[in-house]
Amino acid sequence: MKLFIITLLAAAATSQASPLNASCTVTSYSAVAAALQSCNALILKGITVPAKTTLDLKLKSGASLTFAGTIRFAFAECEWAGPLIQIKGDKVTVNGAGATLDGEGPKYWDGKGDKGCVKPKFLKIKTTGGSTIKNIKLLNCPKQCVSINSASNTVLEHFNIDVSAGDKGALGRNTDGFDVSGSSDITVQNSIVKNQDDCVAVNQGNNFIFRNLTCSGGHGLSLSVGQSSVCGPPNTVKNVVFSDCTVLNSDNGIHVKTHSDAGTGSVYNITYKNIKLSGIRKYGINVQEDYEKDHSCGNPKGNIPIKKLTMSSITGSMTGAKGIGVYILCASGGCSTWSWSGVYIKNDKGMKNNCNFEPTGFSC
Ligand SMILES: *[C@@H]1O[C@H](CO)[C@@H](O)[C@H](O)[C@H]1NC(C)=O
Ligand SMILES: *[C@@H]1O[C@H](CO)[C@@H](O)[C@H](O)[C@H]1NC(C)=O
Ligand SMILES: *[C@@H]1O[C@H](CO)[C@@H](O)[C@H](O)[C@H]1NC(C)=O
Repeated sequence: MKLFIITLLAAAATSQASPLNASCTVTSYSAVAAALQSCNALILKGITVPAKTTLDLKLKSGASLTFAGTIRFAFAECEWAGPLIQIKGDKVTVNGAGATLDGEGPKYWDGKGDKGCVKPKFLKIKTTGGSTIKNIKLLNCPKQCVSINSASNTVLEHFNIDVSAGDKGALGRNTDGFDVSGSSDITVQNSIVKNQDDCVAVNQGNNFIFRNLTCSGGHGLSLSVGQSSVCGPPNTVKNVVFSDCTVLNSDNGIHVKTHSDAGTGSVYNITYKNIKLSGIRKYGINVQEDYEKDHSCGNPKGNIPIKKLTMSSITGSMTGAKGIGVYILCASGGCSTWSWSGVYIKNDKGMKNNCNFEPTGFSC
């Protein structure tokens, strides 16, 4: 009797907690919209999204979404900016569960990235309220992989972003791993990025943690502040921690750049700690206040001052004759209260460090 009651209670609890109706496993794109309306636990299995269409996943509050199989996105003839997928929702859980989201990058890649034919961004995340997005395998992003945009209180973990196929013939470009703007309280952790541009690029927002990321092939762990055409004002980034990350075979290890062609703004309270570098080609650490559009112009301005930049235990090695371990180009008065310790970047064959500002605890 006792056992019987317990069984009944357990059955009732199960049916309440996971309303997994058959109709909530969706195997064709045309059934997605209706399922989003009715399901709290949706499974998207092996669907192909039509060309020039965003898989627009506006989840119900508290809902879960699981991917299964391979999710494909039909090729859009290089004339659509995407994104291929957008995830929106409050308190949602999205689980990639070993599925592959295939961006079909090789069909778009022309070696020109943003400057070539129009390519779609891959995954845009706009979740809030304690959401988690995990176990996502993104393959072959046409260009930028994950854009965290107008999101808050969200954890992204166990992402595996693999655009390494784009190394061949240098065809993949601007394939940023995680771009962050207009967001707050975001953690990205325990993830792997193999690409050709920034592993992480923080453009705007506050309270971000990037932890245990392994990045290879790209441009490193970056802050890029004041790309007004991308973000608009305010050009502020505050309270960011990168910790326990490894950057391999990349142009830069750490890159903090502010745009001298933007309006005013600020970069405040940024910490990089326990970052390991290997096979870095251009700069181990590069902090520069002289970016205009997409390149450095050599004329730093203090329109976006960088305050409280902390580095601790940044170690590893450069490769090649052009490598510079540490490069700092600050505008007059543009940099203050930087505290660095344990910064040691081995650079036998390359060029000398070059700094016009000396952080406390580091001798250039
Ligand atoms: C499951 O199916 C029942 C009966 O058709 C329906 O009332 C309920 O809303 C469905 N639940 C979900 C999550 O779709
Ligand atoms: C760091 O991330 C990797 C890759 O996702 C994972 O395998 C590993 O378990 C993580 N380490 C910790 C301490 O969580
Ligand atoms: C700096 O950022 C860290 C991590 O986000 C935070 O804990 C700390 O309170 C911030 N410090 C200041 C002075 O804002």
